[in-house]
Amino acid sequence: MRAKRVVLAYSGGVDTSVCIPYLLHEWGAQEVIALAVDLGQNEDMEQIRQKALTSGAVAAYVADGKASFVTDYIWPSLAANAMYEGYYPLATALARPLIARLLVEVALEHGCDAVAHGCTGKGNDQVRFDVSIKALAPYLTVLAPAREWGMTREETIAYGERYGIPSPVTKKSPYSVDFNLYGRSIECGSLEDPWTEPPAEIYGMTTDPESAPDQPGYVTVGFTAGIPVSLDGVVLGPVALIDQLNILTGSHGVGRIDLVEDRLVGIKSREIYECPAALVLIASHRALEAMTLTREVSLYKQQHIEPTYAQLVYNGLWYSPLRQALDGFLTSTQATVTGEVRLKLFKGQATVVGRRSPQSLYDNGLATYAQGDSFDHRAAEGFIYVWGLPTKVWSAVHRP
Ligand code: ARG
Repeated sequence: MRAKRVVLAYSGGVDTSVCIPYLLHEWGAQEVIALAVDLGQNEDMEQIRQKALTSGAVAAYVADGKASFVTDYIWPSLAANAMYEGYYPLATALARPLIARLLVEVALEHGCDAVAHGCTGKGNDQVRFDVSIKALAPYLTVLAPAREWGMTREETIAYGERYGIPSPVTKKSPYSVDFNLYGRSIECGSLEDPWTEPPAEIYGMTTDPESAPDQPGYVTVGFTAGIPVSLDGVVLGPVALIDQLNILTGSHGVGRIDLVEDRLVGIKSREIYECPAALVLIASHRALEAMTLTREVSLYKQQHIEPTYAQLVYNGLWYSPLRQALDGFLTSTQATVTGEVRLKLFKGQATVVGRRSPQSLYDNGLATYAQGDSFDHRAAEGFIYVWGLPTKVWSAVHRP
């Protein structure tokens, strides 16, 4: 017996469904409690809850994680402009520590001694779940049946049927999809060949840029202290803001990413992402930072904080002291990141075309090429003499 009472992260798919009888009959659990988390994946959560009960769970709960997802996970990550390996805004990766936190809450409430998830042994998500759960509740056992059971898909379905889990009625799509408010991740099927162009059928949040409107659209994103608060001047709650931005920018074909990325477990994998709101928010946040942070803070943040932050999110270290420390830097730098950014949306591109801020460091008197600027032109000469000195000395020695 591996555990007495287990809370399972439940998605409604075949794998997590089969985890229920497997935990009960192979691993000797007495009770399995299922927890499904609504992160804006547009699924019928009540139907998923019922399916957990049919699959043998003693109880099944649905948690609405949307508001916390945006406020506690997406906003901090946006402050860091976090993009793994420069391209992936981390929608799937950011959701895992939240799901882990909700699992631990249910575990404590119901006196569970273990937490289970349906991840296999090849991906990043198992790492994120295991490490997050252990970080929050080191005394809980983590169980990952699919990491050990070694069944093929057909065997998994057959195993489920023995315990009354209906085999999927529709022919299963060859793709593996993870979907939440911050984006959609798609892999497998023909995408496993990195040379093959993604087929149109895989997309769900974005219009094909080629058939996107012929007229450009515009959107203005308002920020207060680094946090998005409005669209086109209308103040919106966090979930509504991301929802609306996804719809608007996705309709212009913005948000598609085709990537070969490095998983933590050492495997390169090809993944397609759709993250319209994420890309637009990061582009606008960067544009506002460029206006409101000093050169030194910007550079240090881009070179050291942002890539480190993205890596730690990707690698499952959300609940680590490193993130807390970096959040300290981010909170301090975001204090002045207030203002508005205007973007043009056109056939797959979101381009920043305007920005303004009450905290702007942009000084037109210094920047202007018109008559009467306030910059001391003569000061440049002495500055350049000192600035260029090391290079001049090197050249005198090596290129006499
Ligand atoms: N590669 C992404 C990550 O590790 C997404 C993983 C889940 N993808 C999927 N298609 N099910 O964060």
